[in-house]
Amino acid sequence: MRILTGIQASGKLHIGNYFGAMKPMIELQESEELFTFIANYHSLTTSKDAKLLKQLTMDAAIDYLSLGIDPNKTTFWVQSDVPQVLELYWILSKFTPMGLLERAHSYKDKVAKGVPANHALFSYPVLMAADILILDTERVPVGKDQIQHVEMTRDMAIKFNNEYGEIFTLPEHVVNDNVATIPGIDGQKMSKSYDNAIDIFMETEKKLQKRCNKIISSSTPMGESLEYEDCNIYALASLFLDEGEKSQLQERYKSGKEGYGHFKKYLKELIWEELAEAREKRAYYLNNPDIVRDILSDGAKKMQKIANAKMAIVRDAVGIL
Ligand code: ADP
Ligand code: TRP
Repeated sequence: MRILTGIQASGKLHIGNYFGAMKPMIELQESEELFTFIANYHSLTTSKDAKLLKQLTMDAAIDYLSLGIDPNKTTFWVQSDVPQVLELYWILSKFTPMGLLERAHSYKDKVAKGVPANHALFSYPVLMAADILILDTERVPVGKDQIQHVEMTRDMAIKFNNEYGEIFTLPEHVVNDNVATIPGIDGQKMSKSYDNAIDIFMETEKKLQKRCNKIISSSTPMGESLEYEDCNIYALASLFLDEGEKSQLQERYKSGKEGYGHFKKYLKELIWEELAEAREKRAYYLNNPDIVRDILSDGAKKMQKIANAKMAIVRDAVGIL
């Protein structure tokens, strides 16, 4: 199955992103044909700082490689290194009724939040459709906010195919409903926008401990049995545990011998250990940016071959000499 994921490089990744999106994606590369790219043309719609956008693009590449994207199994590139998508974007624009774009929630939400309503923001879904259709993607794993964009992609592909024959594969979105919403330190959904996140890559163990110590818990005094069911520390720790380990932790909560401080320390250890290998890889890539650039450039070359072959068919179909 050919699967495409697009990453918006938006800075520091947190534990919610890790369990909600990255880990399931990285697991896919074992059984599926995975394509993953950093959507920097899309980021341009909201970016104000050129240096920062370059930096975030490299950081995202390093983070994803460190967490387990294997360039031998997954084609991994930066969107702007395959500018063929921009040509397809233009051609698809002809198959995109204004009304379709006007109905896009994501556009309306961004404008409501004060993002300038320019053409790039408005036509964002057409570029996303080009990303998806240029490589005959079959499945697109997305968060709920992006489902509509995949549906719009299908609409464009159907319109095009109706006119020129079965040229584009119709993609389907995949939303991973099995992944529960991961709580932040205040118990709300963990999100970079709520200042409640625990970052994946904390500089030191001490800083990670400090962040874990901020998790809001109830105030049952030491010596009493603690409830684990609604405890944020337990919810986060259980992400790292198998069933047997979860039962052990539940017993520790019930025993009354330990307080929340102990469980915050335990959680810190679980996070620190889970990410030990990724931290090592990250240090390596940060010291060797040329290796990262080579990986991205190899990925772009593979993608360009696929993109060129598809564009030859599309250009011919629509009558571009
Ligand atoms: P944020 O809310 O921090 O801005 P994004 O919207 O950039 O996160 O999410 C990127 C990906 O991570 C999405 O696929 C989303 O489903 C997943 N994700 C983010 N936060 C959580 C969470 N708290 N629990 C589960 N998955 C999450
Ligand atoms: N719009 C997606 C997001 O914000 C990123 C993206 C761009 C994408 N092109 C894509 C995702 C193609 C999947 C397929 O998350």
